Amino acid sequence: MTTNRPRVFVTRLIASEAINRLREEDVVLDLWDDDLPPPPETLRMRASDADALICLLTDRIDESLLDAAPGVRVISNMAAGTDNVDLATATARGIPVGNTPGVLTESTADFTLALLLAAGRRVIEADRYVRDEQWKTWGPRVLLGKDLYGATLGIIGFGAIGQAVAKRARGFDANILYTRRSDAPPPEGLRSAKRVSLPDLLERSDFVSIHVPLTTATRHMLGERQFASMQEGSILVNTARGAVIDQPTLASALAADPPRPAFAALDVTQVEPIPTDDPLLRLPNLVLAPHIASAGETTRRAMANLAVDNLLAGLRGERMPNCANPKVYA
Ligand code: GLV
Repeated sequence: MTTNRPRVFVTRLIASEAINRLREEDVVLDLWDDDLPPPPETLRMRASDADALICLLTDRIDESLLDAAPGVRVISNMAAGTDNVDLATATARGIPVGNTPGVLTESTADFTLALLLAAGRRVIEADRYVRDEQWKTWGPRVLLGKDLYGATLGIIGFGAIGQAVAKRARGFDANILYTRRSDAPPPEGLRSAKRVSLPDLLERSDFVSIHVPLTTATRHMLGERQFASMQEGSILVNTARGAVIDQPTLASALAADPPRPAFAALDVTQVEPIPTDDPLLRLPNLVLAPHIASAGETTRRAMANLAVDNLLAGLRGERMPNCANPKVYA
């Protein structure tokens, strides 16, 4: 039996509240409920007769996928970043692409602080030290770290997340430097933050935290020259996208003597999950997390609900609450 109800392919089990909202709608729901993403061929097949997609950053929605799915007229990406979606092709085809910024700002900033502190104060090493029975006594030179309090924090990318990190760091009396394309003054409460050039920021910061989206302009924006200009003892945190960093070069920089940066904390890597033979995995001066900066329970629920809001608006032909390619409405 054929139906005119739009077919929606959801590429993973997202918050049940959001799934239930979709079940109550007049749509045919096709849900990929595996823990792993649909393999590319499966994604292609299931998208081929879909009218709309709710997808994740693990799904590559490129031109060839869109060619194979000519009925898709709405894409709702449950992420702030949209580097997994070919936005230019979607826009050229009049397909609105929804994303979920805003609702994940505070969780992501919280986690960034967790990494800044974990890296600065060697929390992961400390845990291993205790479990490995190396803790013999209180020691005046044991596991010395770097205080965030009073340090200079360089924030690359001063959008909502960069600013939310800055606000938290102000509570640590950190001096904030930032780079930003726009020369708009910093918002109320962050007036003492200083906009500087990237070379300046790298030279002057004790901690550097990355908060730019991955675009052709930001891909590999930190490489050999940039690492060499960082301070001895500096700490680099990335909760944005792995490919903003030239990753093999970072591995060499961390392994150098002295290492520059001295320590890194990465929530994101160029290939995810990080391949088991990646040289980064052999380095002691690195903390890794599996891309979980937005993984607060309420945040993930809000992201799923916003993804559904975007999808439903798109299906109704209305403007999405959060559209990554608003040019489609021009
Ligand atoms: C997560 O990385 C996101 O872009 O939402």
